[in-house]
Amino acid sequence: MKPLAEMAVEVLTTADGRAKTEISRRHAASWFAARKAGEAVEIGTASPPLRPARPKKPELLSPRDVPRRRAGSRPGQIALLHAVAHIELNAVDLHWDIIARFTDTKFPLGFYDDWVKAADEESNHFNLVCDCLEQLGSFYGDLPAHAGMWRAAEDTVDDLMGRLAVVPMVLEARGLDVTPGMIEIFQKAKLDQVVDALNVIYAEEVGHVAYGSKWFHFLCGRHDLDPKETFHGLVRTYFHGALKPPFNEEKRAEAGLPPDFYWPLADEIPAKSR
Ligand SMILES: [Fe+2]
Ligand SMILES: [Fe+2]
Repeated sequence: MKPLAEMAVEVLTTADGRAKTEISRRHAASWFAARKAGEAVEIGTASPPLRPARPKKPELLSPRDVPRRRAGSRPGQIALLHAVAHIELNAVDLHWDIIARFTDTKFPLGFYDDWVKAADEESNHFNLVCDCLEQLGSFYGDLPAHAGMWRAAEDTVDDLMGRLAVVPMVLEARGLDVTPGMIEIFQKAKLDQVVDALNVIYAEEVGHVAYGSKWFHFLCGRHDLDPKETFHGLVRTYFHGALKPPFNEEKRAEAGLPPDFYWPLADEIPAKSR
């Protein structure tokens, strides 16, 4: 088996979404087969690209220029799903990027188990959402998508703790806040296939946030840092904008994110919850 960092770069340098997720799932399967068999595995080192390869379509636009549509209409539902597919594709790359980018930092193998599993799940999420789009007569690439999705990765390209703080503990945690509302939209529209896909995503994303929190706390412990203060400092440095309530406090707690991590960064703190 190739060193894991090289497998990660193969995924990152594959442009087409379905091809990317196919390689991603294949590499994840080899990794876990080797781990289960107790074989020696090598992490190695690699040079991940600053930005992952992307297909020609979708066209990437600044968030301001991405047209908004009403979620009650079929075009609105397709646009929402298209945005989710775009997020999932970026998430595949984000998880492989954290594997390939920070090989200078030594970790127990469990660190790699977690991110390979997360990347494998994101690959499945992308495929599930693409299947839904295709069922509705659309496809990934049919509409424009947000250009800013990779910004958090570029901002934290040389700061692993910043990466953990901003990607799993802020952005993926935000997913936990907004997914129940999306599930409701598609329940109302009676689109069962979409509801099923979003339920898989919702359940598995808790794990990704939890991996972020676990390894963030691990590094704080290694460097004798106060986790909460460190988290606030890194989010203020690298995250552009405030955290938006309402927060999914139950799922965030399940993922190891206590309220005093995110409430002090919220743009509006309702008096009652202080
Ligand atoms: Fe996902
Ligand atoms: Fe995720």
